Amino acid sequence: MHLRTFPDPVLLRPSAPVEVFDDPLREKLAEMWSIMYTEKGVGLAAPQVGWSARVLVFNPSGEQSDESGARVVINPKVLKRWGKVKDQEGCLSFPEIYVDVVRAAGVRLQWQDEHGAVHEEDINDFPARIVQHEMDHLEGVLLVHRMSPVDRIRYRRELAELAESLETAPEERA
Ligand code: CO
Repeated sequence: MHLRTFPDPVLLRPSAPVEVFDDPLREKLAEMWSIMYTEKGVGLAAPQVGWSARVLVFNPSGEQSDESGARVVINPKVLKRWGKVKDQEGCLSFPEIYVDVVRAAGVRLQWQDEHGAVHEEDINDFPARIVQHEMDHLEGVLLVHRMSPVDRIRYRRELAELAESLETAPEERA
């Protein structure tokens, strides 16, 4: 597993639901946590590490020493959403790019954990933004799709450089 950056094709595909909750699944989750912390992220979706599955992990503190808000989220569904907030977002798959995105202020989320147990929770504010961002990844929806036309022009060079680096060295990244 390694971090994939835009425009890696795995990032642009919808992911498949998880049906088997076994040890190999939990091993992949452990790898996702490790990559997320190494890259200093607060959330990571499975397609970002080349795994096309409806899986995401997040920890709003970003700190391994504080995992009170950390969740493993598998096969998530938003049952309800409320409010609207515009705020800045980044993405590990778009290094150096930060854009304003409008999201719901809160969501009622239903999901399964790494053992298949079903959970439901109202999630608000920053954690709600992370969840919505990571759930976009499961549909192949990325920051580049959420950008305003102005941001797309502003980050034209960064986006072109990302595309170029993927073309020139795909093998070295495996
Ligand atoms: Co992202």
